[in-house]
Amino acid sequence: MIKALSVTSECAPLVKTGGLADVAGALPAALAEQGVQMRTLIPGYPAVMSAAKGKLVAEIDTLFGGPARLLAAKVKGLDLLVLDAPHLFDREGSIYLGPDGKDWPDNSERFAALCRVAADIAAGILGEWHPDIVHCHDWQAGLVPYYLRQDGTKVPSVLTIHNIAFQGIAPLNKATALGIREKDLVAEGVEYWGNISALKAGIVFAERLTTVSPTYASELMTPDFGMGLDGVLRGRRADLRGILNGIDLSVWSPEEDKQITPYKTARGKAANKKALRAEFGLPEADGPLCVVVSRLTEQKGLDLLLDALPTLLARGGQLALLGSGEPWLEDAFKGIDDANVAVRIGYDEALSHRMMAGGDAILVPSRFEPCGLTQLYGLRYGTLPVVALTGGLADTVIPATSATMAKGVATGLQFYPVTTAALSTALTQLCDIFAQTKIWTKMQRNAMAQPVSWAPSAAAYAALYRDVIERPA
Ligand code: ADP
Ligand code: GLC
Repeated sequence: MIKALSVTSECAPLVKTGGLADVAGALPAALAEQGVQMRTLIPGYPAVMSAAKGKLVAEIDTLFGGPARLLAAKVKGLDLLVLDAPHLFDREGSIYLGPDGKDWPDNSERFAALCRVAADIAAGILGEWHPDIVHCHDWQAGLVPYYLRQDGTKVPSVLTIHNIAFQGIAPLNKATALGIREKDLVAEGVEYWGNISALKAGIVFAERLTTVSPTYASELMTPDFGMGLDGVLRGRRADLRGILNGIDLSVWSPEEDKQITPYKTARGKAANKKALRAEFGLPEADGPLCVVVSRLTEQKGLDLLLDALPTLLARGGQLALLGSGEPWLEDAFKGIDDANVAVRIGYDEALSHRMMAGGDAILVPSRFEPCGLTQLYGLRYGTLPVVALTGGLADTVIPATSATMAKGVATGLQFYPVTTAALSTALTQLCDIFAQTKIWTKMQRNAMAQPVSWAPSAAAYAALYRDVIERPA
């Protein structure tokens, strides 16, 4: 049995802003099947504190400016270690942003505190339990490998990069406060273009690096996708690999989804489509009902959809969108005045299930996408994904081409380059295929039969943990 500590800033179903939470929430159960006992260290935000009534396992007199406690709690099958530090985490609203919509000014300290405690757990502050391996997620856990190295704690770490756009940047003058030594403020250390980067600290000091799809692993080492860290990643090429995300089938299965009218085959989608149209106030139409469930940010390429939308609507297609994010994108979608377009600004987990069940197609026109989960939900629910050819979208969707159609294996549509013109072409192709019921139904069957569970990827993580425990250097 391997004992692993997962360090994450979000974890479904307790607290979620994106796919990281889904991954952190699903991986422990999938790893248990592989002989890994995983405990999850997470900040004690209000939502976590109210859900996780825990037992006190450690007290810390002062942690980045205030007292802290560590609580152990079991919630929905997760074995949590909750860092209760009210001066850092007892804040209403978004876990990352203040009421002004900007990052909390002390985000570096907040997550450095999480990392400090993770390193202390690895060093044995809990007494009887200490991990064989620490699995760190994104920049918020990036300082863990650095602290472990600095402390001389002989527990190896793996860093998973879910999104390189978030790098945990702090000014150099925070180094002392963050527990970073002067000698490490160099290009080979944690210095990054005149700042500190917590993500870079993880990339430099973790024993192994992973990201969430094989294609994104290759992309990350290129200037176009590496966002300034491609050189550092090329230097660690031998230790970097892509392990595709799965989805939690106990949450995302149309056969037993409590949010929808359950169905076993795509035929069962009709009732859900009717209900979804009614819920969104959309009329009957001949074309495909396309859905989007997404953060509204530059990454997701939804501005391209704004421009490509007339193509879809001209063919009798419809759009139902659920999302929130950058105000200009929210406003642009809210401003669309068309009976066949319905927009919900906000975050609504239950509605996202109903959309997955009721939609004909899900659109994911991302400029970059480390893995992407909504196209996987789409596959599972027979809602055909229309995706950009990038990152995990490239690895998970079999595009309809003459070759794949001849073989009868296509599961969706892919477009490249990531432009309005290419998206419009894909939407036209979507409408063409939608009109050919036999082919459409076959693609839905293919999609629903795709393996999207966590099992193979959990096996890959477990093998990686074993390897790094045996051969840390
Ligand atoms: P990312 O992590 O980059 O946002 P993913 O596709 O990996 O992208 O994961 C996004 C997750 O967040 C999915 O589970 C998706 O269903 C969910 N999601 C995104 N926006 C919303 C929303 N407005 N309401 C409900 N769920 C959302
Ligand atoms: C990130 C990525 C997304 C990925 C998710 C979980 O937020 O943007 O592509 O699926 O992390 O790994």
